[in-house]
Order: sequence, then C-alpha cells, then structure tokens
Amino acid sequence: MDHFTEANLANWNDRADLHATDTTGLYRIASVLEGGSALHDLEAGEIGDLSGKNIVHLQCHIGLDTLSLKHLGAASVTGLDFSPRAIAAARDFARQAGTEARFVEASIYDAPKALGATYDMAFVTWGAINWLSDIRAWAQVVADVLKPGGTLYLLEGHPQLYQYELRDGKLELTADWRTPSAKPLTYDDTQTYTGDERPLTNTRNYEWIHPISDVIGALIGAGLAIDFLREHEIIVWRAFPGMIETGLDQFELPPGLPRIPMSYSIGATKKG
Ligand SMILES: C[S@@+](CC[C@H](N)C(=O)[O-])C[C@H]1O[C@@H](n2cnc3c(N)ncnc32)[C@H](O)[C@@H]1O
Repeated sequence: MDHFTEANLANWNDRADLHATDTTGLYRIASVLEGGSALHDLEAGEIGDLSGKNIVHLQCHIGLDTLSLKHLGAASVTGLDFSPRAIAAARDFARQAGTEARFVEASIYDAPKALGATYDMAFVTWGAINWLSDIRAWAQVVADVLKPGGTLYLLEGHPQLYQYELRDGKLELTADWRTPSAKPLTYDDTQTYTGDERPLTNTRNYEWIHPISDVIGALIGAGLAIDFLREHEIIVWRAFPGMIETGLDQFELPPGLPRIPMSYSIGATKKG
C-alpha cells in the first residue's frame, strides 16, 4: 500500500467510528435500522427500478446506503470498502436492521478478486473516486465486477466544485482541474464533515480531482457504453459556508454567486 493510501485508510478508520455513532443525523441511521432508506432524492430518483437486481456498492463506507438499496427492493446487496472499522460498523448495522447483506473488506483495486462475483449493478456515490489516484484502474474494476449488460450508477461531487473555495463571499479558483496521481491535494482535517465536534486522530488525507472527460474516457476504455451524463446545481452537503438548503440535505449556492455545477451523475452499461 502506498503512503497516500495508508494515510487515507487511517483517516477513514477514524471517520468510520465517528460516523457509526453519528449524532448529527447526516447518516440517517435510525431510518435505515427501521427498514428505510438513507438515499437522497437525487440518487433515489435516478437509479431506477432495483427489483431483481444483484447490486455491488463500491466504497460502501458504513453500509447505510448498501442496506438502503436492499430496503428499496434489490435482490441482493454487497458492499466493499477498505476500512475494517467501516466494514465492522456495516455488518453491525445489517444485524441490527435484520437485513441480509454481504460486506467485503478490500481495496477498490482488489475488488474483482475479493468479491469473486459479478453483478447487475455497481452503485458508487458521493465522495468515492476523489480518494483514488488511478481512475483508469477504477473503471476497469467497475467493468470487471459487472455482468455483460450490467450498469454503473455514479454520482459524485463535480470536479469544478473541487477547484473552488469561497473566500470573502467570492468563489476563488484554487486548484488545477486535474490532479496528477503522484501529487495529490493534501489536507489535514481536524474534524470530519458531518459537523461532529469530536476530533480526528489521523488528520492527514489525500484527494484527486478527476475531470469528467477522464472518468468517461476511462469507462469507455474499459468497455462500458455511456447511457447518460448529467450535471446538477445541487449537492448533499454544505460544500461552502452560506449554502442554501433547498430540500432535505440538498444544498445550492446562495443567490449572487455565479452558478457552477455542484455534482454530476453518469449511467453506463457494460457491453454484452
Ligand atoms: C465518503 S465515503 C463514500 C460514501 C458512501 N457513498 C456511503 O454510502 O456512505 C468514502 C469511502 O471510500 C472508502 N475508500 C477510500 N479509499 C478506498 C480504497 N482505496 N479502496 C476501498 N475503499 C476506499 C473509505 O473507507 C470510505 O468509506
């Protein structure tokens, strides 16, 4: 494991513990344990009918969306994440909810071997690929875990959003549009993004901005056909101070600022 991934793993293990005991409500734990869903309106409205589908949730974190997919009608759900503490929490939530689900601890790049199965759908959302340095390897993993005709649903923060910071009420361009794999963006967050005030011990983390053209190109190169690409003005976290809440956990830029896309979604199908 390279030292970027090692640091990210330590950071995600810390976050998993905090998120699994989330007091801010962001993770909608109670709702999932009662058999409900933690999905936001955006992804719930885009994923389509899940009935009869065997779904793999890549970078599943503490498994709440994985369990939600089962509650929404999937035939089976499998979550994969590299954090042992996230996987332990996910298994515990599945037990508490009484929901059948499989959780696998593995690096994303080892997913095909670790899973040992192929699926009708791969579900990847909200803050997954920004932790990965190699988008082509990721796209190949997606292709390898899908059956022919299987689909990917990807929903992510927009790369343009990650280039900006809000300073003195103005959006300032602060990052390049593409992050070199050997020179990630480097952060030291003392707290996690939920609003929880408990400190993180392992603060250092590394991220990569992937232009949409790189993501699309990588998916096509891995043998997927693109079904749709959509850019959205909404996002499910307060990406900048002063964001306006326009729905449940749904935020937009305040009036007066130039509009930039905040998130995007891609549907793709593995060619048969
Ligand atoms: C923001 S969370 C994704 C949220 C997720 N959509 C959910 O349902 O909660 C990012 C996840 O990616 C995982 N992750 C980061 N790098 C990884 C890697 N190289 N291999 C596998 N999982 C990774 C982290 O452990 C974390 O759980």
